[in-house]
Amino acid sequence: ETIDIKGRIIFPGLIDAHVHFREPGMEYKEDFKSGSMAAAHGGFTTVLDMPNTKPPTNTLKEFKRKIKLASKKSIVDFGLHAGVNLQEVQKIVKLSPASFKIYMEDTSINTIKKMFDILNSTNIPLTFHCEKREINYERDHRGKSPHFYSDARPTISEEIAVAEAVSFSAHYNHPIHICHLSSKKALKIIKNMRNLAPVTCEVTPHHLFLDSSYFNKFGSFVKTNPPLRSREEGINIKDLNDIDIIATDHAPHTLDEKEKEFWEAPAGIPNLEVSLKLFLTLFAKGKIKLNEIKTMFCEKPATIFGLTNKGFIKEGMDADFVVIDHKKTGKISADEFYSKAQYTPFEGFEYIGEAVMTILRGKVIMEEGEVFKNKGKYVRSEYRLPPTELPTS
Ligand code: DOR
Ligand code: ZN
Ligand code: ZN
Ligand code: ZN
Repeated sequence: ETIDIKGRIIFPGLIDAHVHFREPGMEYKEDFKSGSMAAAHGGFTTVLDMPNTKPPTNTLKEFKRKIKLASKKSIVDFGLHAGVNLQEVQKIVKLSPASFKIYMEDTSINTIKKMFDILNSTNIPLTFHCEKREINYERDHRGKSPHFYSDARPTISEEIAVAEAVSFSAHYNHPIHICHLSSKKALKIIKNMRNLAPVTCEVTPHHLFLDSSYFNKFGSFVKTNPPLRSREEGINIKDLNDIDIIATDHAPHTLDEKEKEFWEAPAGIPNLEVSLKLFLTLFAKGKIKLNEIKTMFCEKPATIFGLTNKGFIKEGMDADFVVIDHKKTGKISADEFYSKAQYTPFEGFEYIGEAVMTILRGKVIMEEGEVFKNKGKYVRSEYRLPPTELPTS
């Protein structure tokens, strides 16, 4: 089949290394069908799903079950991050997970050490949600203005967690990946440790484009963990050089849940259908190069997570593409989301540029906003590079 792209821009299919598709157990928020349709709509051909489902994906049985159910429902290719369970790690390793994900709020330092001991004979990275359980003042702030959310979970919590994770990485010379950084100082800690530790990091669109002043206007719709930060404490586009990848942390909840009182409402923002639009708009305004977008959305996520058939990091890869109309304008609206999460803090944002076609292994799965039936596949992560050869730019 020949596809006429009419003089538009073509990229490798985008890879989102951090999504929550909520299956099994919370299908009312999202499932692999709706989530993967949202991915295709946003230009993504591969997603890596997080293990905080019900039950969590931290046993061989649950890992296999998720591969099976996602293979039936996902229209894009997918890999899986595994949860932590010392008894099951060795068994899950055989199925080539994208990583083992550590929620530092729930995991003791002793368990983290044991995870490194076990995984050190492999090149499978540990990914970290960097917030410390001991540094959380939500209880003191309950009932106050949402503006206090950033104080309730302060940046020092992230900075200490990052320093700890990077120290483990340096000690073991084992690759780690820091999820959704929110603090500029935490980013500096990573930057300064890059020659000692094979560490990579990601930032979300909301942490880059929004700041804590949005809490007053959007309340729980911008409630996310770690929280949005002030312009001074947070990360912004000037810091892009120090960031490895953009990941959406697509974290859908229902409108009912998000309309609860701020401190009761769940944290999380659905981003798959806005992320590329935001970055293409930056390009239109001359603030980022197309190549930088491609590196952060395609090549680097593929390299970090061992997706050797994706992201165009070598010849002979899967024919995954996204066709971009970089001049097409519009307003972001949750009305056109395929995600079950029918809200976005970017509602009304005037974007310039969007994905107009998504192609997975040679097949068109999205055209002009219409998403088609397809069968996505489980992608194994193959870590052929020794840790020291991981990109540390
Ligand atoms: O805001 C968040 N929501 N942060 C997380 O780390 C988890 C996520 C979720 O699963 O809803
Ligand atoms: Zn997280
Ligand atoms: Zn997450
Ligand atoms: Zn659209």
